[in-house]
Amino acid sequence: MPQYRSVFKDETKLDINYVPYRLPHRDKELRLLMEFFSFILQFPEKMTQRVMITGDVGTGKTVLSQRFGADITREANKRGISLRYVHVNCREYRGNLFLILHHVVSIFHPNFPRRGYSAEELLRILLQILDEENTYVILTLDEFESLVEREGSEAVYKLTRLQEIRANKPQRLSLICILRNLKIIERLDPSTKSTLQSNIISLEKYSKQQLMDILNDRVSLAFNPLTVPEDTVSLIAELAFSEGGNARLGIELLWRAGKYADAEDLGIVTPECVRKAASSIYAVMRKSDLAFLNVHEKLFLLGVARFFKGSQKAYASLAEIERAYAVVCEEFDVHPHSHTQLWKYLQMLSARGIVQKKVSATGSRGRSTLIYLPRISAYELEKELSMLLEKGEA
Ligand SMILES: Nc1ncnc2c1ncn2[C@@H]1O[C@H](COP(=O)(O)OP(=O)(O)O)[C@@H](O)[C@H]1O
Ligand SMILES: [Mg+2]
Repeated sequence: MPQYRSVFKDETKLDINYVPYRLPHRDKELRLLMEFFSFILQFPEKMTQRVMITGDVGTGKTVLSQRFGADITREANKRGISLRYVHVNCREYRGNLFLILHHVVSIFHPNFPRRGYSAEELLRILLQILDEENTYVILTLDEFESLVEREGSEAVYKLTRLQEIRANKPQRLSLICILRNLKIIERLDPSTKSTLQSNIISLEKYSKQQLMDILNDRVSLAFNPLTVPEDTVSLIAELAFSEGGNARLGIELLWRAGKYADAEDLGIVTPECVRKAASSIYAVMRKSDLAFLNVHEKLFLLGVARFFKGSQKAYASLAEIERAYAVVCEEFDVHPHSHTQLWKYLQMLSARGIVQKKVSATGSRGRSTLIYLPRISAYELEKELSMLLEKGEA
């Protein structure tokens, strides 16, 4: 019996909290952040900075600011400047400014009492501590929305303005606010708004190719050589792209697919592992979605399932599916429908999100349609359809 060998070399590289050294396709943004804060490396006491980072889920907002935080802290410390990067997820503190500031203060004074102070007092105490220790802080308020929702303008005003009125004292506290979009900022009063809005870095959704680059980097960090074929990475990127260019989903799928590969001792992460991972993430496709299909639509889909079950490929051509469908028709003793009919079934199935299609850019005979299964394992789909078809026969 072959010895069990995991596809993973180091699973921790796929952890949501892991911050890689390289962030493909975010160099420009990382450099911009560095520029915004470059004064800290020379004249930290002279000013503070405020930056907002916006972007949809999984566009790399959190990881970008953490990478930046680690880089600038290392650089500052090299130059003898005492700088701390503090990353707080506001939602974890229910958007409560007092709790957020208490957390920051307790980084410096671990047993700082929870009672007896207002948020404003905590902020003053924090600045006092920083004065005493001659330290500067870049405070990142991740999921900033929850702070604005709970505390409104006033809290944000306090954070941005209080230190400005400290006469003749060094500037200590810079802010990075992370939020999905600027809608919530509209709620703030004009002066708070304007102090925040000066520097905005907006992260665009990743393209499929960009997601592939990000995933390939993680593959080489987390997996043993040659365990993750290119088709597998491509399918994951496809799924993550169709869910809004979401790198988080991509990395989660990669990890789960690896888990399925290990569970079956495959030694290789196949596209079917990805489909299993996807169907475990999304709620399993509702059975009513399939029951609603007519017999030939079911047979066509069964052809799709059989094809992928018997293949290591992530994509099939329509011709390949047609052949699989013809075999299925023979098995069920029915006459196959025409190509034109099948094309219509394909349109309908893809419109309902049951299968997906894409146009391949580089075919030897020009552009052709490729079909793939996004979020159900071929095995599960076959089982479900066979059951429905048998029921229908009886
Ligand atoms: N450019 C990138 N390079 C490497 N990993 C990335 C990149 N962008 C995002 N990721 C990874 O994708 C996941 C989601 O990123 P995250 O920063 O949490 O997104 P957001 O905060 O915008 O929702 C994390 O695991 C992160 O490490
Ligand atoms: Mg985030």
